[in-house]
Amino acid sequence: MQFDFSRLAAADRYKLMSASITPRPIAWVTSLSKAGIRNAAPYSFFNMMSAEPPLVALGLMRRPDGAYKDTCANILETGEFVVNLVAEADLDAMNFTCIDAPPGIDELHAGAIETVASIDVAPPRIVSAPVSMECRLKHRIDVSDASTVVLGEVTVFHIDDRFVDGERLHVDAAAMGLMARMHGAGWYARRPDMVRRDRPAWADFCEQAR
Ligand SMILES: Cc1cc2nc3c(=O)[nH]c(=O)nc-3n(C[C@H](O)[C@H](O)[C@H](O)COP(=O)(O)O)c2cc1C
Repeated sequence: MQFDFSRLAAADRYKLMSASITPRPIAWVTSLSKAGIRNAAPYSFFNMMSAEPPLVALGLMRRPDGAYKDTCANILETGEFVVNLVAEADLDAMNFTCIDAPPGIDELHAGAIETVASIDVAPPRIVSAPVSMECRLKHRIDVSDASTVVLGEVTVFHIDDRFVDGERLHVDAAAMGLMARMHGAGWYARRPDMVRRDRPAWADFCEQAR
């Protein structure tokens, strides 16, 4: 089956792409409004884009009335945010924060989610997150009236001591048990069932082919 996206409604393109491009990591983004009200919400149009500079990308869709979601408005207004990664124990707390609360509501307070002050940016980070990345807005791309993509530069990287070897910087990703977004509303993946393949070298390939 093929789909000519120029003939498909946006909602149908969303269905096909978001259910196929899985599993997706989840950025549990904390931000502050200009008035200083805290906000938290999950975003799975998210990934690492570069290490030099250290960039993460977020895809922020607009609301049906065209307004920015609170996270997007806050990032554009203040230029700062924190990406917290989601452990299995935080699944319900993370899910709570996608509630359609009005802009003036502090979802961290409403969800009794514990935070601690960040080092470089004003929005706090989530205490229970295995990893939190303090970010400064690097680029904003208003790709349409319906979506904005932001690139954030990571200035401070926090990782729970239990999951990193501080000398070799080896991260025990499996032990973090990070949640990922799957197809359809409400589905997540956990505890990856992993396989390993070493990266091939062209020289070895040529040797074996002789
Ligand atoms: C796991 C998960 C991932 C989500 N990913 C996105 C996303 O990538 N982009 C987006 O616009 N909305 C996404 N949403 C929906 C937003 O979290 C939701 O609209 C939320 O209410 C926005 O909150 P805010 O206005 O406080 O930013 C996601 C929801 C969940 C539960």
